[in-house]
Amino acid sequence: MQMAREYGDIVAFKLGRQDVVLLNHPDYVKDVLVTRHRQFHKGGPLQRAKRLLGEGLLTSEGDQHLQRRRIAQPAFHRARIAAYARAISDYGARTGARWQHGATVDMAGEMMRLTLGVVSKTLFDADVEAEADELAQAFAEALEYYNLVTWTPEATERFARVRHRLDTLVYRLVDERQQSGNDRGDLLSMLLAERHMTNEQLRDELMTIFVAGHETVANALTWTWYLLSQHPEAETRMHTELREALGGRQPDSSDLAHLPYTRQVLSESMRLYPPGWVIGRTALSDYEVGGYVVPAGTVVLISQYVMHRDPRFYPDPERFDPDRWTPEAVAIRPKYAYFPFGGGVRQCIGESMAWMEGVLLIATLAQDWTPRLLDGHPVGTRPLVTLRPRHGMKMILQKRTGPC
Ligand code: HEM
Repeated sequence: MQMAREYGDIVAFKLGRQDVVLLNHPDYVKDVLVTRHRQFHKGGPLQRAKRLLGEGLLTSEGDQHLQRRRIAQPAFHRARIAAYARAISDYGARTGARWQHGATVDMAGEMMRLTLGVVSKTLFDADVEAEADELAQAFAEALEYYNLVTWTPEATERFARVRHRLDTLVYRLVDERQQSGNDRGDLLSMLLAERHMTNEQLRDELMTIFVAGHETVANALTWTWYLLSQHPEAETRMHTELREALGGRQPDSSDLAHLPYTRQVLSESMRLYPPGWVIGRTALSDYEVGGYVVPAGTVVLISQYVMHRDPRFYPDPERFDPDRWTPEAVAIRPKYAYFPFGGGVRQCIGESMAWMEGVLLIATLAQDWTPRLLDGHPVGTRPLVTLRPRHGMKMILQKRTGPC
């Protein structure tokens, strides 16, 4: 943030011995992600992610990536996603049924557990809620490793153990399906139908969806509950919308069109706290931008966190204001001033699913609950692979009474 404000749209610096350039304009974001994406690969920073995810969608490059993407795409089509809506609100309702009025919870943990259940159910049709706590713990541990600058032998060994735990679960899901022989039309079935895939490739893809598909959504939801608790006027407006559109009913995909303000709340939440807060690419050849030549081998960074708080596109950027997302307001802003899901060929494959899941879960839970931040709980960001709340998010659950 400081570099961008001090030096502008193109900032060169070094991280250790690595040359890095931070680009801070929507035109450059589009250039890197879309127009000239062939000049980049994901490269170096992903090597570590490969230890967990292998060569799945997120980590593969070039032709291999395109091939993987073609196989997985049908599972994420809008029509298919809509079929997941009921299961998603059911999981939300189950969480709400477990909550107790007046209880203090770590909302970050609650949302992690919820979204892990959802991704397991919707993409693998598996009911792993029972193991969800253990899994969430294993994922959390695994992701911690990406933050380590150097890996001690002890860290490497602990990572191997975590990976083994995760592998065991994923292979179990595959086994169960292979034995049942059912085609359930979910991602697992689609991948199993692709005969060219080895078991290891299958594992890589499932692991990728598991990781990419739950922690991002969990963070978005956690920050949203926090922001709502700090902005009762927006919360009230949202409650009015929920009452008019749902009247206490559990939402389904057909309700989404009637929940525009709830979606605006989520948009604004991901503006201020984008779960993916930075995207890095390595230049394969010399790259010309804004009159400069960025030499081949340089790491180019674009940051959602920085772009989304740029006063040129978001006046008074620290202010939470869902009205920034009315169709009229969106129309006058450059498209790539907002890119929580990236863009171009590497755009998030789960974007439609994420919007649907986010809105449905907020709608389901907010009808019955108004979580409030625990007095004195510190709130800060912890930019790991995703943007987490540094101290978790301790909240007091308040059951709503009267007409929702
Ligand atoms: C709020 C929720 C989410 C956010 C903010 C998010 C963000 C992103 C971003 C920024 C990228 C691009 C990374 C890059 O270009 O380097 C990405 C890629 C990806 N996301 Fe998401 N994501 C979310 C939810 C999901 C969900 C629900 C799934 C799956 C169920 C998913 C699966 C993936 C996959 C597989 C990729 C790699 C795509 C490719 O390279 O072809 N994401 N996501």
